[in-house]
Amino acid sequence: MPTIRDVARLAGVSVATVSRVINQNGYVNKDTEQKVRKAIEQLQYMPNSVARGLAGKQTGTIALILPDISNPFFPEIARAVEDVAQKQGYTVILCNSDDQGQKEQTYIEMLRKKYIDGIIFASNTLREEDVQQMQANKIPLVVLDRALASGSCSVIRSRNYEGAKLAVEHLLQIGCRKIAHLYGPQEMITAKERMLGFEESVMHFPWYSPSLMVPGYFSVEGGIAAVKELLSRHRDVDGIFCGNDLMAIGALKGLHQLGIRVPDEVALIGFDGISLTQITQPELSTIAQPIYDMGTLAAQVLIAAITSGELQPKLYELDVTLIERESSKR
Ligand code: RIB
Repeated sequence: MPTIRDVARLAGVSVATVSRVINQNGYVNKDTEQKVRKAIEQLQYMPNSVARGLAGKQTGTIALILPDISNPFFPEIARAVEDVAQKQGYTVILCNSDDQGQKEQTYIEMLRKKYIDGIIFASNTLREEDVQQMQANKIPLVVLDRALASGSCSVIRSRNYEGAKLAVEHLLQIGCRKIAHLYGPQEMITAKERMLGFEESVMHFPWYSPSLMVPGYFSVEGGIAAVKELLSRHRDVDGIFCGNDLMAIGALKGLHQLGIRVPDEVALIGFDGISLTQITQPELSTIAQPIYDMGTLAAQVLIAAITSGELQPKLYELDVTLIERESSKR
């Protein structure tokens, strides 16, 4: 079956242009429109009329596609989305994508066939053309967290870069003299921005070296291994900023296994603000994201788009907060 992408390729235009011609919304010059119509005819392209036909019909269902709900960050997002959706009469279908693009595409196809009213997507594999394809099929979409920095749909994310700088400033303030960073997978914009915020905060110090940054894969196990690798490189590190709380929990365990005291010898701070940081010993300092608010806002923005039929793309960047606890108290 030819897709909107095939039409765009044959006509030599973007998916968004094809979508504007099909939906007759937005300006397209006559020549371009003719080229698109010719390509549609040549390919015998049928817009997904079922999904479009249903644009006016609502099923009272929204989908929430998350990378991995075994990471405590995401259940709080899911809880907030459900609380808002339920109040407004919507059911939520939860999908785990494991950040795998193919799995996400399968879900999108499945969701489109299930005639859902809209999708909230926390993904780092979603491409701009996927967004345009869903817009062309009138499936309202809100992307959060591991989102494209900007695009043709509403995006809700935290100020990751500023949060990283806040973490470093805090460690400097308590007297740390050599600070390291355990970073998440760099294909994720959240991890990338936090690493950039760290690097730009410390690169002017004489002790700075790129070897002070070690991958921890956003996991507990990754944090344990990364902190041991870090200390084997730089035994004199006395402050560590971890790109998420799971790595900070792992780093805490790894330092304990090395017989290194937190915070006396090494101060530790994470990022996210998941509740597990309150039950570690010592309790973990963190840069808290407004996780529940992100989920609430995502659901509100999506449902507003569904009910109004208007897809007004907007970027929402939410502030983060420094939570000081025992792991960085000096
Ligand atoms: O801990 C999971 C991480 O993935 C969080 O920092 C969240 O921002 C997401 O990007």
